[in-house]
This record gives sequence, structure tokens and C-alpha cells, in this order.
Amino acid sequence: MWSIIFELLLLTNILTSMHTTLKATQVSLDALQRTNDALQSTNTDLVKQLASKTADCIELNKENMQLRNRLLVADQPSTKQDARCQKSLLIGSSIVRDVDETRLLDTEVISISGGKIADANRTIAEKSGSYKSIILQVGSNDCAKCEDLDKIAEDYKMLVKGAKQRTNNVIISSITPRTDNDTAQATIDLINAGLVTIAEDENCTFVNNDLDFKLRDGTVNAGYLLPDGLHLSDAGTNRLGVNLKLNTNLKSVAKPRNRRRNKPKHNATNKCYSP
Ligand SMILES: *[C@@H]1O[C@H](CO)[C@@H](O)[C@H](O)[C@H]1NC(C)=O
Ligand SMILES: *[C@@H]1O[C@H](CO)[C@@H](O)[C@H](O)[C@H]1NC(C)=O
Ligand SMILES: *[C@@H]1O[C@H](CO)[C@@H](O)[C@H](O)[C@H]1NC(C)=O
Ligand SMILES: *[C@@H]1O[C@H](CO)[C@@H](O)[C@H](O)[C@H]1NC(C)=O
Repeated sequence: MWSIIFELLLLTNILTSMHTTLKATQVSLDALQRTNDALQSTNTDLVKQLASKTADCIELNKENMQLRNRLLVADQPSTKQDARCQKSLLIGSSIVRDVDETRLLDTEVISISGGKIADANRTIAEKSGSYKSIILQVGSNDCAKCEDLDKIAEDYKMLVKGAKQRTNNVIISSITPRTDNDTAQATIDLINAGLVTIAEDENCTFVNNDLDFKLRDGTVNAGYLLPDGLHLSDAGTNRLGVNLKLNTNLKSVAKPRNRRRNKPKHNATNKCYSP
């Protein structure tokens, strides 16, 4: 009998203990379920966030591509936002004073009366923006005022370097011959030979006006000069225009007579050596 009671008690104990364990299991199961729910909602959140980040990324990528394309376009000189980019510049001494800018297309003409190489250099340096091409027609005054050939050639090299800051197409026009000063003409011949080398070194086009302005025997074609033996006649101005391939639809690029000899717009230095 005692043994039966004992066994029952034991059984009760076991049952109670089992019940406690079951309860505990239930509690941890509930906790597990909650963790699982939490994880699942976190997971959903993460997926949502990932989707939104992916969309952001695609947007950024698109924007990046657009910016890169704009940069590529901006890098090309032909599309620079500079109207003068399409313009050419003819700059020189009074040798070009009768070239009529209004008869030319997309070409600016600057004539510096009495102007020397350093004056052209300074005038170009004062300009901003770029040109399609820059044509240099200067040096006659240097050759008549200065006998230091190296100095003249050095000045010209500087001028070309300055011009190349404004265009990648520099055209060196040979100094046109003059009959008013033989010493100056001898210097001009030597400097013109030096300009060929400068043009080669600096990747410039050289235009040799002597082919027309001088006759076969080496004398100057007087028809291209005015009686002063220095400045160009209309024929000379037009010849120069053809040699330089100035952009025009007209037969003549020379100013009509009533528009001649305007006051010089640009200052010139009078010193042999540039400042
Ligand atoms: C030409 O201009 C540059 C500035 O662009 C200057 O540094 C240089 O000294 C000038 N050269 C001459 C010969 O005037
Ligand atoms: C040489 O000059 C031409 C224009 O006359 C230009 O198109 C070319 O890029 C230049 N080459 C170099 C190496 O600078
Ligand atoms: C002629 O040119 C030389 C320099 O080549 C100069 O010294 C001389 O003064 C010039 N003569 C005249 C009359 O201008
Ligand atoms: C150019 O000449 C004008 C008039 O003679 C003068 O007022 C001006 O200061 C000069 N400019 C330069 C840069 O020498």
C-alpha cells in the first residue's frame, strides 16, 4: 500500500516537473516566435531599403553619365561657349591698315599704326577667349628701327607663343618688302628666313608673300606698294588678302578710299627693345 502511495507521489512529482518544463518550453517558443517575427519584419525592411538604395544608385549612375557626357562635350574646343572661337584675327602693323574688316567674314582686323612685334604681342595678350586662327603680319617696323636680328627673332617667337594661347592655328605672314630703306629690307629678308624656322618649330603655317611681291629678278613689284615704298596699294592689299586666304565673298578686301587712314585704335611703342 505504501509503495503505491509512494509511486503516486513520485508520478505527481514527475507530472508537475513535466508541466513546469512544458510551460518553460512554451515561453521560449513564444520568445522564439517573437524573434522570428521581428527578424522577418527587419528582413522586409532591409529588402525595402535595398530596393530604394538600388533606385538611388541607378539615378546617381544616370546623373553621372550625363555629367560625364557634358564634360566630354565641353572639352572639345569647337563647342566652347565663345563666339570668337569661330572668328579669325588678322593682326599687324599699318601694312594691314587698308584691309577692310567689313568686307571679311568672321574676321577681326587689328592694325597697329607704327606697331612692332611686341605691340602685337601685347594686344593679343590683352585679348580674352580664343580664335579659329590668328594671322600675324608684323615686323616691318622692327626691321627699320632695330638691327639686332636675334632680338627681333626672339620677340617674334614670344609673339607666336602668345598667339598660340588663343588659337591652335597661327599663320605667320612674311614681312612684305619695302623700297624706302635698303638696310631695313636686308634685315627683312633675313628675318623672313628666320620666320620659316619659327613656323616649323612652332607648327605654324608660313605664307611667303615674296613669291608675288618680288619679281623674278628679286626687285620689288612696285605695283603692290604705295609711293612711300612701304604701305600697300589696293592691289597689294588684295594680293595679301589672297595669300592669307582671308574669308570674303567679295573681289576686293581693300577699304574704299573715303574710309582710309582712320585714327589708330591701338598704341604702339617706339623703343627698339620691348619693355
Ligand atoms: C609678350 O607677352 C607676354 C605676355 O603674354 C609677355 O610675358 C612677354 O614678355 C611679351 N613679349 C614681348 C617680346 O613683348
Ligand atoms: C599643328 O597645327 C594644326 C593647325 O594648323 C593643328 O590642327 C594641329 O593640332 C597642330 N599639331 C600640333 C602637334 O600641335
Ligand atoms: C633704315 O633702317 C635701319 C635699320 O635697319 C635704321 O637704322 C635706319 O634709321 C632706317 N633709315 C631710315 C631713313 O628710316
Ligand atoms: C594709348 O594712347 C592714349 C591716347 O594717346 C592714352 O590715353 C592711353 O593711356 C594709351 N594707352 C597705353 C596703354 O599706353
